[in-house]
Amino acid sequence: MEKDILAFIKNQFDGEDFIPLHSPIFRGNEKKYLEECIDSTYVSSIGSFVDKFEKLMDDITQTNSTTAVVNGTAALQVGLKLVGVKENDEVITQALTFVATANSISYNNAHPIFLDVDYDTMGLSPKAVSDFLDEFGELRDDGCYNKVSGRRISACLPMHTFGFPVHLDKLIKVCNIWEIPIVEDAAESLGSLYRGMPTGSFGEVGAFSFNGNKIVTAGGGGAITTKNTFLGDRAKFLTTTAKEPHKYEFIHNEIGYNYRMPNINAALACAQIEQLPPFLESKRNLANDYRNFFAEKGIKFRTEAKGTRANYWLMCIEIENKTDYKKFLKVTNDSNVMTRPVWELMSKLPMYSHCQKDGQKNATRLKSRIINVPSGVR
Ligand SMILES: Cc1ncc(COP(=O)(O)O)c(C=O)c1O
Repeated sequence: MEKDILAFIKNQFDGEDFIPLHSPIFRGNEKKYLEECIDSTYVSSIGSFVDKFEKLMDDITQTNSTTAVVNGTAALQVGLKLVGVKENDEVITQALTFVATANSISYNNAHPIFLDVDYDTMGLSPKAVSDFLDEFGELRDDGCYNKVSGRRISACLPMHTFGFPVHLDKLIKVCNIWEIPIVEDAAESLGSLYRGMPTGSFGEVGAFSFNGNKIVTAGGGGAITTKNTFLGDRAKFLTTTAKEPHKYEFIHNEIGYNYRMPNINAALACAQIEQLPPFLESKRNLANDYRNFFAEKGIKFRTEAKGTRANYWLMCIEIENKTDYKKFLKVTNDSNVMTRPVWELMSKLPMYSHCQKDGQKNATRLKSRIINVPSGVR
């Protein structure tokens, strides 16, 4: 069985010696734009490619204001600050995520609350949030408070795991009741749709990553997206060291960040984003081939929930039997086919083990079953 699977995967990627989980592909205007950028001498945090990148992202995410930043983690950190997260607040997020989601909360000196995910989306469960708030939430004049800790719950941070959108309608409904703004961790979901609308456009703020392992890359980069132009302007201000506009004076009235994306990274990102539609198509075709192949083997390949369109950033299978699960990981990795288990639950990490959490039933089950398989553009 493993032999068949290895042969199938290797075949998808032209029999390469080593098949990575996801590697970038540069077949468009990458070299041309990089050369143009170098020739212009504008390689740092101002330049025409930054402007172009921000406009391209406005279009893709159907938002009004994109701010290009140095990475997805910075986008999340500033995104939380934009919606009003302050020191000693609490932020609701999911137990099953990449550590940057939780770290961005800590960078704001706030405390994460780790709740369960839905089994179908692998992202934050609206029911888990609702149950938690019914038990611990208290609405006061200035927002939602945690009755037990006494702290304000100032944001909800769902993450669209591997590009599969969370149940946004339900989550928005719950968060509206409790007056909690949503910041979407859309780091993995560029090009994913929920009821026909792009992820990263539903929350007050969205945060994207353009790391080398993402569907399109800037080398390193991130984006803050919002429909609220006031927040968009503030994102640009805060990430440009909070410098007041003046022709020659240095005026800074609050602590900002040097987080703007360099023009040279934006040049690469622009060339990559131009290829997003064919990348999405290629990945969807691979997902279909995987689904058919694994169905014949009796292995569950994860597909999108109803009403959503995933970008299939990282594709995954589900193996229930513990021995088979371990064997699959070992045999594939020993044969130079990169596969990976899902992340450790945030609440199990030493620096987050003291944080408030719920039962995390689905997250725990998924943690022991999900395996990512090579998902790059063929
Ligand atoms: C869910 C999630 N959030 C945040 C990030 C952080 O993005 P970056 O690596 O660009 O800082 C990543 C990816 O790396 C991610 O997968």
